[in-house]
Formats: sequence, C-alpha cells, structure tokens
Amino acid sequence: ERGASDSKTMRIKLVLLGDSGVGKSCIVLRFVRGQFDPSSKVTVGASFLSQTIALQDSTTVKFEIWDTAGQERYASLAPLYYRGAGAAVVVYDITSPESFQKAQYWVKELQKFGSPDIVMALVGNKSDLHASRKVTVEEAQEYADSNGMFFIETSAKTADNINQLFEEIGKRLP
Ligand code: GTP
Ligand code: MG
Repeated sequence: ERGASDSKTMRIKLVLLGDSGVGKSCIVLRFVRGQFDPSSKVTVGASFLSQTIALQDSTTVKFEIWDTAGQERYASLAPLYYRGAGAAVVVYDITSPESFQKAQYWVKELQKFGSPDIVMALVGNKSDLHASRKVTVEEAQEYADSNGMFFIETSAKTADNINQLFEEIGKRLP
C-alpha cells in the first residue's frame, strides 16, 4: 500500500483503438492540450503524445500515448502499438452502432494478443450528441462488465469526462 505522503512516478504505455472518426485524436488533443479541433484530420499510421497527471494519492502517472489510425487499411499496424501497452482505450461513437461493433472486435484482439494485466477502458465518445444516440449506456456497461473493463462516456468537444477517463486508468494500474 502506498502511504499518503509517499510519491511515486509511473510510466505507462497507453494505446487508443477504434473505428475511424470516433474521436480518438480529439480525445487525446483535449487531454493533452485542452483543445478541440472540429476539423480534425484522419490519423495516418499513428501519432504519439505524452501527458503527465497527478493522482490524489500523490502518485504521478506519465502516459505515453499511441493514437492509432482507425481506417481499415491501417488495421495490420495496430499490434505494433498495443504490444506491451499497460492500458488500452477502446473508443466508439455513441451515435454509431457500427463503431460499437468495431470496439468489440478490438477488445477481442486485445484479449488474445495484449498483455494479460492490461487495463482496458471502453469509451463511448461524442456524448454531446445524445439526441442522436444509438448505443445505450446499458448495453455498453453490460459489455464492459462482462469483459473486465471500465466504461465511461466522454465528449472531446465539451471536455466532459476526459480527465476522469485518464484518472480512472491511473487508479487501476497495477
Ligand atoms: P482516425 O484518425 O481516422 O482513426 O479518426 P479519429 O478516431 O481519430 O477521429 P477524430 O478525433 O479525428 O474525430 C473525427 C471527427 O469527430 C472530427 O470531425 C471531430 O471534430 C469529431 N468529434 C470528435 N470528438 C467529438 C465529440 O466528442 N463530439 C462531437 N460532436 N464531435 C466529435
Ligand atoms: Mg485520429
């Protein structure tokens, strides 16, 4: 157990996976720079950014973030980025059932080929578009529960739950 006055720094490789257009790059941009780009460009290959946060117990977590490209043509590159990752953020768009299906594909892939102790988050992004919601909180929560992941809905646009997502991952790191 870590005492309240101890300080500790953890470095963690984190990978984002999910369909093209679900908002992976926007989530990272919001988390790292506090910005939102409505005309975000599709990611080519992958991009790397890092961000450090302090948790309440005075642990510092440095996230080394690999933001992968969701377009199908890049799917074969994904193992390069999730291999050895300590955390994975699997993103779908709450207005797109197809993207939720794709998220389930990535979860299975991580279960087969990821580290056994990987911390996995299921993220329903674009929560600001709730009027066009097609994936319910209940079905996503149920899927996450049955796969040992935690579930959160975010909006990179409004910043809702973005910091909470990364804090929650930090808390769950072994
Ligand atoms: P790939 O790089 O191709 O895998 O896509 P991506 O998942 O990185 O998507 P990206 O972050 O580039 O976002 C795609 C589009 O969704 C952009 O037009 C964003 O402006 C929009 N977007 C991202 N997050 C949100 C959000 O939380 N709410 C809304 N309304 N739009 C969002
Ligand atoms: Mg991207």
